[in-house]
Amino acid sequence: MIDQLYRKAVLTVAGQKSIENVVRACGWGVAQRFVAGESIQTALGAVKELQKDGILANLDLLGEFIDSPEKCTAFADNVLDLMDAAHAQGITPYVSVKLSSVGQGKTVDGEDLGLTNARRIVGRAKQYGGFVCLDMEDHPRVDQTLAQLRILIAAFGREHVGSVLQSYLYRSDADRAALDDLHPNLRIVKGAYLEPESVAMPVKADVDASYRRLVYAHMKAGNYVNVATHDESIIRDVQQFVTANGISKDAFEFQMLYGIRRDLQKQLAAEGYRVRAYIPYGRDWYAYFSRRIAERPANVMFVLRGMLKG
Ligand code: FDA
Repeated sequence: MIDQLYRKAVLTVAGQKSIENVVRACGWGVAQRFVAGESIQTALGAVKELQKDGILANLDLLGEFIDSPEKCTAFADNVLDLMDAAHAQGITPYVSVKLSSVGQGKTVDGEDLGLTNARRIVGRAKQYGGFVCLDMEDHPRVDQTLAQLRILIAAFGREHVGSVLQSYLYRSDADRAALDDLHPNLRIVKGAYLEPESVAMPVKADVDASYRRLVYAHMKAGNYVNVATHDESIIRDVQQFVTANGISKDAFEFQMLYGIRRDLQKQLAAEGYRVRAYIPYGRDWYAYFSRRIAERPANVMFVLRGMLKG
């Protein structure tokens, strides 16, 4: 409950334009702990650094809730450029995309623009043998995102596109079961948005229990699972679960965010687990950065200290 109140307070304050202006002006130095620069080249540099420790990458061009259709399509073009640049440097592109950034909810030429642009992005990923994960955003987008996942898997195959379920949503067990016929590659997360109690569990212990349930159910159904968390007790339990159930290390991977628990990322990779870091980059870092601060009280002090240092 305290976690929820803390998250709500931070995300509410962060949503105020005056606070955003101050943080945007003074906070880039601090944001760099969580964001791998503003350009494709800095992002690919981060990928190569992680490769030295045997850690895979998931690239995320930052940007969400983009308003005009033209900007959405330009954003999708930038994701294509990212994949082209990665491929040209010998990196198989694995990217995450927020459908709100490429036009979800805007109809153009009779189709949802988010889906049209996602087709272009997943098509390019397939051409390079890569993968696209449709990030999950706030709860009003879940139905459409899962419906679009279904269409994209039918068109390009589950080897090239997957999505995310958030354990804080009451609906996620049912959503997972309803997707079983597709055997989709799913990332399981706890959930990072400010959601009402009518749709999301307010108590952390319930969110954690739901998290384990989703991971175990998706693994037991024979699907590839991205265990995306920094929660060591969950990670330990998943390790025990896979051992007890004879699930191979090729059937799942651990995922963590760039700049968070790098020690644990390296340790798991050294133990032979597949580990992938989610690497955000780009100029539009504010919303992503706010959610990382909202996840952990210690991060507020980290930000304030960093901003005071100038
Ligand atoms: P929890 O919040 O319980 O934290 C466990 C421990 O991890 C903490 O005690 C702390 O040590 C460490 N930790 C967690 N967050 C930290 C932070 N910000 N700074 C420093 N330490 C931190 N969400 C979403 O809604 N849609 C999505 O598509 C995604 N995608 C996604 C991809 C990947 C690869 C990850 C790892 C996470 C996401 N998320 C997400 C975010 C997710 O929903 C969640 O908010 C964060 O992962 C934090 O929750 P944990 O599972 O780490 O547990």
